[in-house]
Amino acid sequence: MEFKEQLKKYQEIINTELEKYLKKENCPEKRLNEAVEYSLMAGGKRLRAILVLVVYKMFKQDYTEAMPYSVAIEMIHNFSLIHDDLPEVDNDDFRHGKPTNHKMFNHPTALLAGDLLFNQAYVVISKDLKDSTSNIQNKLRVFNEFSNAVERMICGEYLDTELEGQNISTKMLEYIHENKTGALLKLSVRMGAILAEANEEDINKLSAFADKIGLAFQIKDDILSEEGNPEITGKPVGNDKEHNKCTYVSIFGLQGAKQELEKTINEAVQIIEIYGEKAEFLKQLAIYIKDRNK
Ligand code: IPE
Ligand code: IPE
Ligand code: MG
Ligand code: MG
Repeated sequence: MEFKEQLKKYQEIINTELEKYLKKENCPEKRLNEAVEYSLMAGGKRLRAILVLVVYKMFKQDYTEAMPYSVAIEMIHNFSLIHDDLPEVDNDDFRHGKPTNHKMFNHPTALLAGDLLFNQAYVVISKDLKDSTSNIQNKLRVFNEFSNAVERMICGEYLDTELEGQNISTKMLEYIHENKTGALLKLSVRMGAILAEANEEDINKLSAFADKIGLAFQIKDDILSEEGNPEITGKPVGNDKEHNKCTYVSIFGLQGAKQELEKTINEAVQIIEIYGEKAEFLKQLAIYIKDRNK
């Protein structure tokens, strides 16, 4: 199957799985549940969720046991996007080609829809832990890594807003990217490997790969914020500049950022070369991160 086709298939699998967690019943907080559904099902690429499954599949065929973790990271990611768009953070009006959550609903609803998604991730994981009869130690390890990575993402978001408009070092920029974006992508890869009982050497190797794609992912996001097509990205272009954000583009220029992106993805691909055919889809995903236009 061709890469794009396979990616779409994975996205459909994740979407079907996420559907199961939507709350559709009539209840006093129905509107809040609608706000959650609005963002969670808005058309995200599902990259983090897919990474969990794809890495798991490198070691074990049936990824069913990884599914709750795949769903949970997508919930956290979407919570982070709702809060990232709030006026207090990036103040953005569009995402996925539609009004952002606070524009579609209202500010308190968006704030609380984010909170609900954040907690739902832990509901999903704790239920899996409660129901599991095997692989418990790895699942507990994953749970611990999960909560630590969420903390890293939040700290990265904090620095991104706190240092807006300031001249920061390349080292600090890297630190922000590593945390606000890299942490969840790295977590996805590590969860897949740990749940599939990969050995420590493989976990470390894949972590090194994840570090690279995590950084590359945000460099590309910075590039798309500079020269993307908002009709395709579904989110505003020029907003980083407008908010005086420190990005790879603001520090290295567009060409410099592109070179850095190319270099980082080449390094990522190099790291997983030893896995050969087994890591083919993962390799294609890394290249997609570089070449994507949304
Ligand atoms: C956007 O992430 C936010 C960043 C961390 C750069 P994605 O581009 O993965 O978001 P969706 O879910 O596909 O919209
Ligand atoms: C988003 O970073 C990172 C998180 C939401 C954790 P950005 O603010 O750069 O991403 P976009 O461009 O709004 O998606
Ligand atoms: Mg932001
Ligand atoms: Mg933003």
